[in-house]
Amino acid sequence: MKIGFIFPTSPFNSKEIDDDFKEQYELLNQFPRLAVDIDEMTKLINLDKKELNSETLWIYRGWMLQKGQYQKLNHLVEKMNGRLLTSPEQYLNAHHLPNWIDSLQEYSMPTKFISLDDMQENSVQKINSILNGMKGDRVMVKDYVKSLKTGSGNIIQKGDDISQKINEMIHFKGSLEGGLVFRQYIDLAPHSEHRFFVFNQQLHSSLSDLSIDPLNLPLTGILAMAYQIKEKINLPFYSIDIALTKNLKPVLIEIGDGQVSDYVGWDIHNFIQIFQTKTLQNKKGI
Ligand SMILES: Nc1ncnc2c1ncn2[C@@H]1O[C@H](COP(=O)(O)OP(=O)(O)O)[C@@H](O)[C@H]1O
Ligand SMILES: [Mg+2]
Repeated sequence: MKIGFIFPTSPFNSKEIDDDFKEQYELLNQFPRLAVDIDEMTKLINLDKKELNSETLWIYRGWMLQKGQYQKLNHLVEKMNGRLLTSPEQYLNAHHLPNWIDSLQEYSMPTKFISLDDMQENSVQKINSILNGMKGDRVMVKDYVKSLKTGSGNIIQKGDDISQKINEMIHFKGSLEGGLVFRQYIDLAPHSEHRFFVFNQQLHSSLSDLSIDPLNLPLTGILAMAYQIKEKINLPFYSIDIALTKNLKPVLIEIGDGQVSDYVGWDIHNFIQIFQTKTLQNKKGI
């Protein structure tokens, strides 16, 4: 498989890669690389000035893109007779929670959602009726993509003023994407969340000792769950976040599109090895 990478340009200088992605850009220099201004999304810049191969599958590595932005990116790539590794439909299948939760519900906490369209009228009543149908006093709330890490955070108490929460989310996030998601609150073991990447059907972990430490049962449980999820999801590049409950049971937190997932908990050199064919052939992916 021939792959290449597309990075966002800096908002201050359209000839430079965004500071946050410069290191990845430099480390991935064995691949063809393009840049795009994600606010404009009008053209792709050939950074390496090499002739582009139409068989290359392009992988975007950058800030999260909204549905329309990813469609525009797809259009730009198609205009140069190329193809994104992940189609716009596949992008949303991992990026928007309602698209994957049904097939993975058995691994995750009970979850409900409401679309922005359904929130046009009587949203407060509709949301309260969803919340009343859920167990416990507390609920985790996010939009279809991300939760609030600032302000009063992502946990609400049943009976809280939900419109105030929505306004706070809009204030900090700029807008809501897709709609709202409500997840039954669970006590998690602190710092127990692990991010896996699946690329080209191979599961990759930042924990190199996971597969050689079968006596570490909580970690082995996380790994077993990651494998089971990989068997159910047919996408070219995605991330899987699994944590432990306070009783040390693995629980799926979310999956995400790999192109816009940060490499939290990963050393950047290990992260870029995911894409190196040699690594894939050696089956170093766990
Ligand atoms: N149901 C839940 N109960 C308690 N804490 C949760 C729950 N779901 C997620 N969390 C915590 O909130 C964090 C953010 O949730 P996540 O679904 O990953 O949203 P985001 O898309 O913002 O990363 C998680 O890393 C986890 O620590
Ligand atoms: Mg998360």
